[in-house]
Amino acid sequence: MSKVSDPIRVGVIGMGWMGEVHARSHAQTRARFGEDAPDSRLVVCVDDVEARAESSRSRFGFERSETDWRKVVDAADVDVVVVTTPNVTHREICEAAAANGKHIFCEKPVGRGESETRAIHDAAAQAGVISGVGYNYRQVPVVAHIRSMIAAGDLGDITHYRGRFHVGYGGNPDGALSWRFQRDLSGSGALGDLMSHVIDMSHSLIGPLRDLVSRSHTFIASRPIVQPGEGTHFSTGGGGTRGSVTNEDYVSALVMFQNGARGTFEACRVIKGPGCDMAFEVHGTAGAVKWSFERMNEYELFVDSEDERGYRTVNAGPGHPHYASWYPGPANSMGYEDLKVIEAFEFASQVSRGEQGEPGFADALRVAEVESAMERSWESGSTEAVVRSES
Ligand SMILES: NC(=O)c1ccc[n+]([C@@H]2O[C@H](COP(=O)([O-])OP(=O)(O)OC[C@H]3O[C@@H](n4cnc5c(N)ncnc54)[C@H](O)[C@@H]3O)[C@@H](O)[C@H]2O)c1
Repeated sequence: MSKVSDPIRVGVIGMGWMGEVHARSHAQTRARFGEDAPDSRLVVCVDDVEARAESSRSRFGFERSETDWRKVVDAADVDVVVVTTPNVTHREICEAAAANGKHIFCEKPVGRGESETRAIHDAAAQAGVISGVGYNYRQVPVVAHIRSMIAAGDLGDITHYRGRFHVGYGGNPDGALSWRFQRDLSGSGALGDLMSHVIDMSHSLIGPLRDLVSRSHTFIASRPIVQPGEGTHFSTGGGGTRGSVTNEDYVSALVMFQNGARGTFEACRVIKGPGCDMAFEVHGTAGAVKWSFERMNEYELFVDSEDERGYRTVNAGPGHPHYASWYPGPANSMGYEDLKVIEAFEFASQVSRGEQGEPGFADALRVAEVESAMERSWESGSTEAVVRSES
């Protein structure tokens, strides 16, 4: 494994929404986590739209900007490559970065489906580089606390799990036909974009799945075409030429875990109502909890006594993982980008220690195997086993 410098030298590829978030996050790991935390140096940012690359250089303090991602994976002064481009580019960039011994943080979905994800996983494993994946909802302090509660047996044996990710970013039929809605650029739709988070969360809380039956649907079949480099998946533009949506808006599944727990998963990108309802409910023989990202700084704990029976709200506080790096007292609110700062800190810590942690490409492959079973079930209409590969 290649030795990294201190501070860790970071290159970010793709300066859209996520590229900007990762740049801000890497810049503040030491400020948040103290002088013993690994520090990062923002060396180079890339976007094939030159104005975005240059604007990011000047706004975030990168030492230089480029328009060709190869100049980052080939750069001698880069230790870590952060991949925040559309999904179609992930495999080529990650394989080239691994071949050059760069540690890689790739946004989810890592590959467009299982075979690409396996290829990326294998490339990083063979090169012996450390990988990280943007399953950021794992990093919520109360979620990390709930994970410890479940692992300690506080809820007893887990019997029921309901996971969902309901967002409305595609709810307007005049919303732009960005790369997310096109199978060749994105791979799957709601499956890779949203359900991937739901599956990863269930893996990290409950464990692996045994089998499932799944359905999908595309509610909005066409959208206005936009020029590359213009618009995001939140942009709208009525009129003009429309193109076909070639992946799914909605996925649901009835699942069974290897430990015998039963569950349901649902993800939708065009639903009216929820803003960002990434959520779970867990029930065991001794208790229950529920949480939603829309109220990220609290969770509901089932209280079961003679006098009080029902859910009680518990606020995030300094006893929950990483919370104290933000606030000394409970019930102060953290937000989405704070999860990315925790994520950057965890990944930089793994890189500086030379130890692979979670979530990495092995976890992304586990998620992709479940997604494959869902896609097989859409075709067969039947229950499909989750087939786990060696890794
Ligand atoms: N973890 C999360 O919560 C989360 C949230 C949003 C997006 N994502 C993931 O992050 C990735 C990026 O999503 P986004 O919303 O930031 O997309 P985006 O469209 O906002 O940004 C992508 C950027 O990449 C640039 N780009 C495209 N092709 C390029 C190339 N070949 N070389 C260099 N730059 C190129 C585009 O110009 C654009 O600036 C996707 O994989 C997405 O699924 C994860």
